[in-house]
This record gives sequence, structure tokens and C-alpha cells, in this order.
Amino acid sequence: MPDLPPFDLSGQNALITGSSDGLGYAAAELLAQAGAHVWINGRDSARCDAAVAKLQAADGKAFALPFDVANEDATDTAFATLAQAGGLSILVNNVGMRDRRALPAFTRDDLRRLMDVDLIAPFRLAQRSAAQMTPRGYGRIVNISSIAGIIAQSGDAAYTSAKAGINGMTKALAAELGPQGINVNAVAPGYFKTAPNAAAAADPAVTAKLQTASALGRWGEPAELAPAILFLASPAASYVTGQILAVDGGYTSHY
Ligand SMILES: NC(=O)c1ccc[n+]([C@@H]2O[C@H](COP(=O)([O-])OP(=O)(O)OC[C@H]3O[C@@H](n4cnc5c(N)ncnc54)[C@H](OP(=O)(O)O)[C@@H]3O)[C@@H](O)[C@H]2O)c1
Repeated sequence: MPDLPPFDLSGQNALITGSSDGLGYAAAELLAQAGAHVWINGRDSARCDAAVAKLQAADGKAFALPFDVANEDATDTAFATLAQAGGLSILVNNVGMRDRRALPAFTRDDLRRLMDVDLIAPFRLAQRSAAQMTPRGYGRIVNISSIAGIIAQSGDAAYTSAKAGINGMTKALAAELGPQGINVNAVAPGYFKTAPNAAAAADPAVTAKLQTASALGRWGEPAELAPAILFLASPAASYVTGQILAVDGGYTSHY
């Protein structure tokens, strides 16, 4: 383990997938403040450039790395760029798509698309990252799961299956990569105000449900997820691996 203060990420390359917006952007902001060189990802390069400009304006070290995580060739090209930049120390596997429909509505192609993005891509990204982390005997992989990987609701079987898969993958990779100095953990967000949740956040019924169903009784702000990611991405988490940390205002611990 490098001899660094616990939350100092100075000079460490951190790839945060899906970080031009949403929870990924909030994580990028905090990791950049901790000194990481953050690689901003999304499919739209203009949105990546805009996020990089905002981070650089706040004195962060940020670089755009646009690619679709579901595209294997594009992923390999991106990892070649990271290797040239000295290799990756931190992966935040954040991209995840929702497709919430009842069981009969799912075709095989719908299911495969969701699994490609939400489970197969994170697996491949972890694999490519571990190859760069192993030679230096140090790495941190933080998978962004969901409370849907822990508890379930009707009409969400595909997403729930993928996120439960992420949780299992987290534990298995922690066991496999631990001897190489790579810690693998997951964060399971509850209800956060990001663009995909805009309609739900505007729906008084959802907010009313949160008031009773969670201990804190409210929506989370994206900046409230980022500190958990920073902890698990940092040297401070030296003895923490294979864990699923719910950051959900007490949604999964309260009834
Ligand atoms: N928000 C919540 O309440 C909540 C709750 C539980 C779990 N989560 C999980 O947290 C993660 C982030 O959620 P979020 O709400 O922040 O999502 P989001 O707002 O949809 O994330 C948007 C970001 O992801 C990028 N992106 C989307 N598809 C991509 C792809 N195939 N390849 C590369 N980049 C892609 C977008 O850029 P482009 O559009 O340009 O590609 C943008 O940077 C997801 O895994 C989600 O399942 C969120």
C-alpha cells in the first residue's frame, strides 16, 4: 500500500464511468478535490468536455475519455489511453441503465441490452482495470449497485437481477483480487435526484413514500453519495473489501 494520508488520491488515475452527469459527476468532483486525475466518461464527447472544463475551473485534474461502456473495442481503446497515462489505480463502475417494465414486456434483446450495460460492461471494465492495477499491487474498484440489488419491487426484474449480479461480482472479485492488493466494494444508492429520477422527484406520492419508508425521510442529493465512493476508493479503505454499502437514508434498514 502506498504511504499516503488516508483520503489523499494525489496523482492516482481514476476512471469514473458515466461521469459527465449525475452521481458519476458528483463522485468525479470529490475525487478530483482529493487529488485524483479523473477521467470523465460518457458516450457524448461534448458533455464529457463540458464536465472536464467545470472540474478544471475548480483546479481539478480532469480528462475526457468518451466511450460507450457496452462497446468492447471502444473500451480497449480507452484502456490503452489509460495505460499510456501511467495506468489506472481507481475504477468507479458507475454506468447503469434502467428499464422498468413488467415481465411480459421484455424481449430477449431488451434483456440483453440491459445486461450488456449493467452487468457485462462492469465485469469487463473490472477485468481491464485489474490488469493495470496488478503490476503495482494496488487498486480500488467501486461498483455502483442499487438498493434494487438488495430489496426488490414489482416491475423491475431485469434491473434488480443485474444489480444483484453486481453485488455477487463485487464479493467474488474481492476474493480473487485481494491477494493482488486490489480492494473491490460496492455502493448501493437509494433514491437520488438525478435526471432519470426527475419525474419521480416531481411526484408527491414518491416523496411521501420516502418520508415513511426511509429513516431520513427524504431524497438524497448526488453530493451525498460521493463521500462513500471516496472512502472506498481511497487508502483509508485498506481493510475493507467485498462489502456492499447502502447509501440510502436508511431505506433498507428501516420499516
Ligand atoms: N439516481 C439514483 O437514485 C440511483 C439509485 C440507485 C442506483 N443508481 C445507480 O447509480 C448509477 C448512476 O446513476 P445516475 O442516476 O447518476 O445515472 P444517469 O444520470 O443516467 O448517468 C448519466 C451518465 O451516464 C452516462 N452514460 C449513460 N450510458 C452510458 C454508456 N452506455 N456508456 C458510457 N456512459 C454512459 C451519461 O452520458 P451519455 O448519456 O453521454 O452517455 C452520463 O454521463 C447507475 O448505475 C444507477 O443504476 C442510481
